[in-house]
Amino acid sequence: MIYADQAATSFPKPPEVVEAVCEVLRRVPGSPGRSGHRGALAASRVVFEAREELAQFFSLEDESRFVFTSGATEGLNLVIQGVLRPGDVALASAVEHNSVARPLEALCRQGRIRVHYVPCNREGFLDLRALKEMVKTFSPRLICLSHVSNVLGTIQPLEEIVPLKGEALILIDAAQSVGHIDIDLSQLAIDFLAFSGHKGLFSPGGIGALYLRPGVEEILRPLKFGGTGSRSESLEQPDFLPDRFESGTPNLPGIAGLAAGARVVRQIGLKNISSHERLLAETFIELIKKNPKICIYGPKDRTKATGIISVNIEGLPPSEVARRLDREFGVMVRPGLHCAPLAHKTLDTLPQGTVRFSFNYFNRLSEVERAAQALLEIAS
Ligand SMILES: Cc1ncc(COP(=O)(O)O)c(C=O)c1O
Repeated sequence: MIYADQAATSFPKPPEVVEAVCEVLRRVPGSPGRSGHRGALAASRVVFEAREELAQFFSLEDESRFVFTSGATEGLNLVIQGVLRPGDVALASAVEHNSVARPLEALCRQGRIRVHYVPCNREGFLDLRALKEMVKTFSPRLICLSHVSNVLGTIQPLEEIVPLKGEALILIDAAQSVGHIDIDLSQLAIDFLAFSGHKGLFSPGGIGALYLRPGVEEILRPLKFGGTGSRSESLEQPDFLPDRFESGTPNLPGIAGLAAGARVVRQIGLKNISSHERLLAETFIELIKKNPKICIYGPKDRTKATGIISVNIEGLPPSEVARRLDREFGVMVRPGLHCAPLAHKTLDTLPQGTVRFSFNYFNRLSEVERAAQALLEIAS
């Protein structure tokens, strides 16, 4: 079997991650921040060390800037629902995932905010001139942007985009970039960065984190309220980080897995990861481009993309291509809209979408060659 659906969730998980998850389940008998016995203290240590690992991963000193969430979706919702006020305008790119588009549209439909989409070209890159104009025209409160498109692999140039935000807050959806390319939060004026663990950080599903720039927590309403193990005498939600945004018993095995995965990525090195993924994508494209019936989407310059490649075969629906890849060749990919109808509108691939291959550091060159061969056979 060849697993080429890494953008959905990564597989296999490194042994270090499996071990860290099992270790917590086997040996940590408590809930962090509660009870005070040695098991609870051990649990608190797991959470604290995971936060420290994240700070190191993103070149920050202050680990308290990270709030654990159930994934990118929760982090994005927390910011979108927690920052926007009645009458506000939000901007988002024309390739956003539904995890950004749906919470924005829900607020729009309730008549609370307006949203405008900043155009992207067919390679998925944001139109920077349009962004500048729209910031001037609409004075948005929030700009939402996926760092890497989950359909095309396109990497948005954050160092050019972030300075254009004006007075707006900027929320980066890093679901497809964390663990694939370097993000130095000490160098970029990003207000919020949301990500999941189960993609580029090799953790189990159901765990992620949200980074908050110092000060922004004061304008962010919590999405959920409840027990935190702190200030239990008060019926009011704590006002300090991370407790303000972390009500409820946390996903301790997930947190341990997330930290172990981040450590694995740091040990391999993001340079090695991105260059391997680029080699895989370039090899795949080089092999399939000889067949004119195969349409390849995304950046021509693959230094500006990750290991995600969307394609279509003329005359064949994506679902049929994916089914044949799986049944006849053991190649697992994702067909359709990839929860990103806006991106497919930009690409003009509605309603059927594309066939998405996504490779990561653990895919071998020989797998990519076999996947390309399978696609060529289906197209022939
Ligand atoms: C760009 C993007 N944003 C957000 C998400 C949501 O991530 P999760 O389902 O882990 O919350 C995904 C997942 O596919 C994604 O690709």
